[in-house]
Amino acid sequence: MSDTLPISGLEGKRLLLGVSGSIAAYKSAELVRLLRRAGCEVQVLTTPDTARFISPLTLGTLSQRRVLTEIFHDEAERTWTEHITLGHWADLYVIAPATAQTIAKLAHGFSDSMLTATALAAHCPVLICPAMDHDMYMHPAVRANLKRLQGLGYQVMQAVYGELASGLVGLGRLPDLPDIVSRITELVPGKLRGRRALVTAGPTREPIDPVRAVTNHSTGTMGFALAESLVRQGAQVTLVTGPTLLNTPSGVRRVDVSTAAEMYEAVMANRDADYVFMAAAVADYTPAEPSSAKLRKADAKLTLRLRRTSDILAELGRHRRDDQVLVGFAMETEDGLARARAKLADKHLDWIVLNYINEPGAGFGTGTNRVTLIGRDGSSHALDTMPKEEVAEALLDRILAGG
Ligand code: CTP
Repeated sequence: MSDTLPISGLEGKRLLLGVSGSIAAYKSAELVRLLRRAGCEVQVLTTPDTARFISPLTLGTLSQRRVLTEIFHDEAERTWTEHITLGHWADLYVIAPATAQTIAKLAHGFSDSMLTATALAAHCPVLICPAMDHDMYMHPAVRANLKRLQGLGYQVMQAVYGELASGLVGLGRLPDLPDIVSRITELVPGKLRGRRALVTAGPTREPIDPVRAVTNHSTGTMGFALAESLVRQGAQVTLVTGPTLLNTPSGVRRVDVSTAAEMYEAVMANRDADYVFMAAAVADYTPAEPSSAKLRKADAKLTLRLRRTSDILAELGRHRRDDQVLVGFAMETEDGLARARAKLADKHLDWIVLNYINEPGAGFGTGTNRVTLIGRDGSSHALDTMPKEEVAEALLDRILAGG
């Protein structure tokens, strides 16, 4: 089957292949062959146990590069910083098979082999392809580690159902090689490979007292969809989100915040991103003196004194890099184009996405949106009403194409 598998888009790509010690390691030889034939350079990294399952000679011969295992080795021409160099070199790092042990180490930042240390140094997407016995795969510790890896920004494929090395049948087989290769082709050719993106999403929640808050109706859907589209283009994505019930898109690093002040801090900590999409509905006002004790209705007249929050996007705009792409959102009820254009100019943005709150099929809490993308050069593109995932794709396409 592999001989007839059409693979395109991988020519000249630099792949790291991490092979950990599992019976499924024999399949990695075939994976190396497929990737080499597709035109990739492949550097194999292993853990010390891998050689019990497949010989470095096999993997080294097929990849035409010496297999690397130990961080400290005795060859004079190699240095102990090779894991760092490789982490910068690669377009994608695939770990297949990833054992329970390797998954646990990656989830907790271990760096005891070339395989694990290079994952910490990688500037590219890292794809984890688990393989182990059913009971191990289903164990809550392994489930938690895989979830943790996704939260740290790793791409995780699911193991598949079938016959296992133990003779049992269940979930735990290495994903099929054609599926691994197609995931690789999805991740590698992105226009945003090696670029960092910051997306904000959702509402903020400004406390009045321990049980009450000032908030808004944002669900976070638009920001989450953008984060997903950016990952698909190969970007390393940090998603700073206010309270929402949405699941984290695979491969996105998520930072949960509650108040506008927390969002400000989280955004500033990630302000060096190449692309910033400020899709959050940040509160413009917050209670000036939130009460640490619950306010009683017996206290009769409640007057809330509010103060302005910091404008996060305006602050980013004031100190922006010229090569950074800053995208803001404007939600308007009337005179939208003019108001959005004014915000774009005031906040030094490259783009602003205008949506109309009082239109059917647009705004908060709907699965669809109708937006107009306005550029710094004065251009404007009105997109049709469509699902927010498609809006995200269309916006990103236009922005990456320059308008
Ligand atoms: N924004 C922000 N920080 C705030 C408020 C808003 O970063 N404290 C961002 C939003 O994420 C959005 C854009 O600014 O990208 C919205 O612009 P803004 O002028 O704040 O819009 P409104 O709050 O709707 O302002 P106005 O009430 O003046 O229309």
